[in-house]
Amino acid sequence: MAETQSRGFVFPGKKRAAGADDFERDDLFMANKSMLPTLSPAWENDPTAALASARHEFGEHGGVNMSIEASATFTVMEPETMRRMFAGELGPDRDFFIYSRHFNPTVLNLGRQMAALEGTEAAYCTASGMSAISSVLLQLCSSGGHVVASRTLYGGTHALLTHFLPRACNIKTTFVDICDHEAVKNAIVKGRTNVLYFESMSNPTLTVANIPELSRIAHEKGIMVVVDNTFAPMVLSPARLGADVVVHSISKFISGGADVIAGAVCGPASLVTSMMDLHQGALMLLGPTMNAKVAFDLSERIPHLGLRMKEHCSRAMAYAIRMKNLGLKVIYPGLEDHPQHQLLKSMANKEYGFSGLLCVDMESEERANRLMHLLQNHTQFGFMAVSLGYYETLMSCSGSTTSSEMNAEEKALAGISPGLVRMSIGYIGTLEQKWSQLEKALFRMQDSTLFSNT
Ligand SMILES: Cc1ncc(COP(=O)(O)O)c(C=O)c1O
Repeated sequence: MAETQSRGFVFPGKKRAAGADDFERDDLFMANKSMLPTLSPAWENDPTAALASARHEFGEHGGVNMSIEASATFTVMEPETMRRMFAGELGPDRDFFIYSRHFNPTVLNLGRQMAALEGTEAAYCTASGMSAISSVLLQLCSSGGHVVASRTLYGGTHALLTHFLPRACNIKTTFVDICDHEAVKNAIVKGRTNVLYFESMSNPTLTVANIPELSRIAHEKGIMVVVDNTFAPMVLSPARLGADVVVHSISKFISGGADVIAGAVCGPASLVTSMMDLHQGALMLLGPTMNAKVAFDLSERIPHLGLRMKEHCSRAMAYAIRMKNLGLKVIYPGLEDHPQHQLLKSMANKEYGFSGLLCVDMESEERANRLMHLLQNHTQFGFMAVSLGYYETLMSCSGSTTSSEMNAEEKALAGISPGLVRMSIGYIGTLEQKWSQLEKALFRMQDSTLFSNT
């Protein structure tokens, strides 16, 4: 009989082996309240350590990498098993799978890695970051529900909360300055508000949220805290700091290849299981399903996420210091003059750095565009493109691109100036090679007003 292996465990043969029935392994498993296998190893206060202790799936033939379960549907030995799976009595915690819009083993393996990364009980992956965000909000809020959210959010999330959810679902949002804890407290209406939503490090202003304090405020009022950690995987672990749910756009740093759109919801096993409920689950019923082949590709990239983040962050830190020394208006949470530098230091996991992104305020869109044009077309420092977490540097003028969903007043309140250039710092080439390209473009601007101290 074939064996299915995972690090530290050898499971007996699969239930579909000839002569076996669907329940021969019943005695090996304890009844579990959740359908999901939950995270077992200690988190050890470091995401890299947690990832190394997470279950490692081997391939069907003993391959060091897991096999891809490229099946839309799954067979059973007895019809009774299907009834029990649909009744929720048998689930992925016991290796029973129904259909890949529901749980899929390869996607579940990536979910296990995401849960280890974020130190949550469980996680599941989705077709995009936006589908992770919208699904979790729809799971936690009903018609008439209310969200309190940071007013500095990725433009798509801002539009979802401002326009789509009120129109389509009667879910309303009050936007607040996430650094003003009194305002956050006052905006939460007991009995009506369901969720406090914010980004651990905001897009694009790199404002750092006080996750422990905001979680304390929300929990005192009995509401859930959902944090988008897209900008700071490895650097920050919101669930370890008090948040209930962590969402990701995996399309960014976690993927690292700028070739995949994907997302994740990390949180309690009960939440992830409820999102797969056949009658009420947002993931099951809205169907933002991740393909198993995509899940496999992403699983192979997570083991080097920590190394990549360290390099993104150390290069961003070096450029931020040097650009600041040239007199540019740099926003970078690793700099002492960043308003939340000390807060970030107190919350961050050690030795990953502070951020792989930095912003430079060029004061007008025209200057921002000129700088990006020089950087791409004359000195080859990086690419004019939205998104982040790629090995090449990506640059965009946020006000006219990824935050263009916000009106002028919303952008002003969020601190997004028209000349704000967001740079996702890559690690291709050597630091000095890339710095000389950046410096050359800055000098070619030949505009003394560019530098604030000249
Ligand atoms: C902070 C943040 N969250 C969520 C998203 C949406 O992710 P996706 O593009 O994977 O749907 C983005 C996209 O830019 C983002 O920057």
